[in-house]
Amino acid sequence: MNKVIEVQKLSISSSQGCIVEELSLSLEWGKPVTILGETGSGKSLLAQAIMGALPRGLEAKGEIRLLGKTVECKADIEELWGREVAMLPQEPWLSLDPIMPASKQISLVKRLVSLLNKPKSESIAIDSLARFGLEGSEGKVPSQLSGGMAQRLAYLCATSAGGRVLIADEPTKGLDSSRKQQLIQLLKEHSNKGALLTITHDVEVAKALGGEILVMKQGKVLETGCCESVLNAPKSEYARSLISARNLDHQRGDLLPNHKVLLELKGVEKSRGGKTLFSNVDLSLREGEVLGLVGDSGAGKSSLADVVLGLVQSDKGSVVHHQVLTRPKMLKLYQDPPASFCQSITLAKNLEDLCKLHQLDRKDIPRLMSELSLNSELLNRKPDSISGGELQRFAILRVLLMKPKVLVADEPTSRLDPIVAGSTIQLLLEQTSRINCAVVFISHDLELVKQVSHKVVKISDYVANHSSELSSPLVTV
Ligand SMILES: Nc1ncnc2c1ncn2[C@@H]1O[C@H](COP(=O)(O)OP(=O)(O)OP(=O)(O)O)[C@@H](O)[C@H]1O
Ligand SMILES: [Mg+2]
Repeated sequence: MNKVIEVQKLSISSSQGCIVEELSLSLEWGKPVTILGETGSGKSLLAQAIMGALPRGLEAKGEIRLLGKTVECKADIEELWGREVAMLPQEPWLSLDPIMPASKQISLVKRLVSLLNKPKSESIAIDSLARFGLEGSEGKVPSQLSGGMAQRLAYLCATSAGGRVLIADEPTKGLDSSRKQQLIQLLKEHSNKGALLTITHDVEVAKALGGEILVMKQGKVLETGCCESVLNAPKSEYARSLISARNLDHQRGDLLPNHKVLLELKGVEKSRGGKTLFSNVDLSLREGEVLGLVGDSGAGKSSLADVVLGLVQSDKGSVVHHQVLTRPKMLKLYQDPPASFCQSITLAKNLEDLCKLHQLDRKDIPRLMSELSLNSELLNRKPDSISGGELQRFAILRVLLMKPKVLVADEPTSRLDPIVAGSTIQLLLEQTSRINCAVVFISHDLELVKQVSHKVVKISDYVANHSSELSSPLVTV
């Protein structure tokens, strides 16, 4: 049997209508397939349908065969989950157990799915964490890990039971470039030894994986073909713009002499788990300023930003406010968008509660939704019933409604395709500049950070030895 996955004339619909139009695809051993596409185009739902795990209320028509078994619901293939077919879902926030330590999340898979004994499972879990640069994180729960670390832990959990078939939804988001290369290498090994279906918005990842590519937009497959031909000579207009999109022509607002200092960090130091993340940090943040923060995955970028916001206490030094900065005026765009929303109520109710609590102008909601290309129908759904990229844009809408004075934007476009990411970053820059909001912009994309920021700070410069804000060429005040 050569075909691992065979999808014939599959369509996915809800009571509101068709979400994914009829499509067919097949995956063979050793021949990776990658789905590139627009945010909200149906990529994750396609993966969930293949796993027999479509959310309630959605219906798949057509035929899906996984390792020769027909999939209509999860009961059909549940015994293959983990052992034969592994799925890395898009959101680590939702796939990891929030109150279970990292090493236990892996060792439990080893015990319950691979049926290994406790000591063996625990020692494998510790080794796997170390291989992934997560030593020292054995006892940490997901909220104590950085976004990139949680992403790596989710990958380890998904693959721990040894499933030869891997379906990976945005596996490299939130990772710095060396971790990304490491994961790409692992995905390739997985593909060589088994079968790999990857969903990504990262053209570099698609290129590195090779094999077959499907390009999706608005629930349709626009083109398919081998990696070289799709990436080098895309046929559809959309694929051409997606592949060539490298949005590095952002306009940030000017920093003017009348932009006053909002706050200063003086000699700030923070350690976690016995490791000094940064020390002797002296920084100032002015109105309308964009401060770029770069560093490896897990280096402490989010921790430094949390110190700026007063969410985390520094061990040494102080944060001095030069203006009145109350909590609702100091906001954070969380790296994992589901972290910002109450999951049990609709998005409309989430926003309504926010407006009521802070006496916000509801008229801004439709304007921002249209600027962020969000369909008004999404308001009637709960946060887990829209796509990852749609939820990320709702998180941006939510903070913009609040008109903050200081905003930490932690990988704010990690769930977006490059075209939508470009327009979203531009919107974020324009709207924050208009209200003189200072932005701490965190990203692994150094080129992007340099482009959008007035000043760039590299976290590794604050480890052990003090050096001030980076000198040229990174400081672009
Ligand atoms: N449970 C659900 N009920 C109804 N509609 C849904 C549900 N989940 C997702 N959708 C809608 O289906 C469409 C496709 O969603 P999907 O999550 O598959 O997109 P995606 O291509 O993975 O996007 P992204 O790149 O943003 O993750 C979106 O418009 C989304 O709003
Ligand atoms: Mg998705």
